[in-house]
Amino acid sequence: MDFKTAVANEILTAIRAAFGEVDIAAADIAAALEIPPDTAMGDYAFPCFKLSKALRKSPIMISDALAGTIHADFLGKVESVKGYLNFFIDKAMYAEKVLGLALEQGERYGADDSGAGKTVVLDYSSINIAKRFHIGHLSTTMIGNSLYRLHKFFGWRAVGVNHLGDWGTQFGKMIAAYKRWGDHDTVAAGGVDEMVKLYVRFNEEAKQDPALNDEGRAWFKKIEDGDAEALEIFNWFKSVTLKDAERVYDLLGVTFDSYAGESFYNDKMQPVIDELKQKGLLIEDKGAQIVDLQDYGMPPALILRSDGATLYITRDLAAARYRKETYNFDKSLYVVAYQQDLHFRQLFKVLELMGCEWYKDCEHVAFGMVSFEGGALSTRGGHVVYLDDLLHQAIDKARAIIEEKSPDLDNKDEVARQVGIGAVVFFDLYNNRIKDIDFTWERALNFDGETGPYVQYTHARACSVLRRAGEDAAEPDFAALSDPFSQDVVRLIEQFPDILKSAVNRSEPSMVTRFAVDLAQAFNKFYYENKVMVDEPGTRAARLMLTDAVRQTLKQALYLIGVEAPERM
Ligand code: ARG
Repeated sequence: MDFKTAVANEILTAIRAAFGEVDIAAADIAAALEIPPDTAMGDYAFPCFKLSKALRKSPIMISDALAGTIHADFLGKVESVKGYLNFFIDKAMYAEKVLGLALEQGERYGADDSGAGKTVVLDYSSINIAKRFHIGHLSTTMIGNSLYRLHKFFGWRAVGVNHLGDWGTQFGKMIAAYKRWGDHDTVAAGGVDEMVKLYVRFNEEAKQDPALNDEGRAWFKKIEDGDAEALEIFNWFKSVTLKDAERVYDLLGVTFDSYAGESFYNDKMQPVIDELKQKGLLIEDKGAQIVDLQDYGMPPALILRSDGATLYITRDLAAARYRKETYNFDKSLYVVAYQQDLHFRQLFKVLELMGCEWYKDCEHVAFGMVSFEGGALSTRGGHVVYLDDLLHQAIDKARAIIEEKSPDLDNKDEVARQVGIGAVVFFDLYNNRIKDIDFTWERALNFDGETGPYVQYTHARACSVLRRAGEDAAEPDFAALSDPFSQDVVRLIEQFPDILKSAVNRSEPSMVTRFAVDLAQAFNKFYYENKVMVDEPGTRAARLMLTDAVRQTLKQALYLIGVEAPERM
């Protein structure tokens, strides 16, 4: 039973009885129901001003007229207070229904099939070739991964795309550097680090000897022309980078359905350029080809440089078209830093001007800046924190704590990995995504307070309570869950489905992260105030049932933000 709907139905029946037929839907009433900040005001409140217009009566008249007429077995009482109808759900009944539903639906609790038959394409992580995976790419990776899981949970077909940054003149320079100073074995052994070294050296030496730049350009031209040697080296750079990245993805448990990056669109841009021309959108500007966006308050979108080279947005236009044609998406999300806001506004505007009605289904899921210990991250400034270093530090720290606190744990390595990674991921997804994040070693590796390990630990505690209890066949006495601590837990579990829906609709995983902390805190309070393994079998069974629902809900919430939930810690 869904209390919101049930309350809404009661209200509608009462309205009809009091005022006759009205053109109001139960769903609209349900949507207007509020959850009062203080439970002294009830479990739900209905603001009667929402009906004033339709009924032509003041809110107070409406609430006074209706309050006394609503009686249902699941309702303790209904009060009329200043134009609000306050509903008090019968506490025992409330616990019984909410926990019963959650446990009956099990892993599907909180889900529905609203995404069935629909497709979402998610562009996330989208790392750059020949660069180390630094923590600047953590947010896109983990927000994208969470949105991927959330959509699947609601029945969507999700297509995860890693739009690799694998195109640009820098790759010509890198090949030139490799041909001069590099050798196969060193790069094979050193991976991306070696490539970066070669690139840095190239730029250093090019300052003294500008002719090097011509060499770089020549190699880039060769890549563009499909020269066999150039392509072989370039593709090898790519596979070395991806091998490095995959180690990180494995640690994080992140996967993709496609690695079609910028170079994939080399042969797919011409039709888009032709179409822009044909629709009269492309104009010449100092030899370059642009789409003028002045009318929309934006600088022009540069489509072709004067030397005929294509740009980032040219590739994104081709990619957007390709994704629509290939996946026929209903929604296309780009999980990319806020710095690229203008790029995406331009991209969507050009699509609109081209007559691609589905531009409306494209959304830039932006997130704030990431800095580390107060300093911005940059590959040149030397202040770079690599993701695998951060993750391994976190794992080491988790292992040290486990050694100290639970030396007898069976699978210490695995749990250390789950907890260490969980700490970093949770921290990354804790705040509203648009907020800037300043990583500090201390905060990212913090295991107390509102952190991943705290929630994981709470989940493990629930598992342990249930393990020790074993099978308990007693009938639960739900009246034993009428105390405020139990009720707080029940209320949060009831809210889980709505939280998940909002998280999907707003592309905001942090709502799930926050929820997980709230539920963990509520459960720990409950656990502190109420002994679970009491003698009275009905009370014990009810408290165990609550514990089981918490275990299940925490596990699901953690899964949906990409954090594992060990059963023992
Ligand atoms: N590789 C880019 C970067 O690291 C992000 C690409 C985002 N995706 C896109 N379709 N533009 O900044």
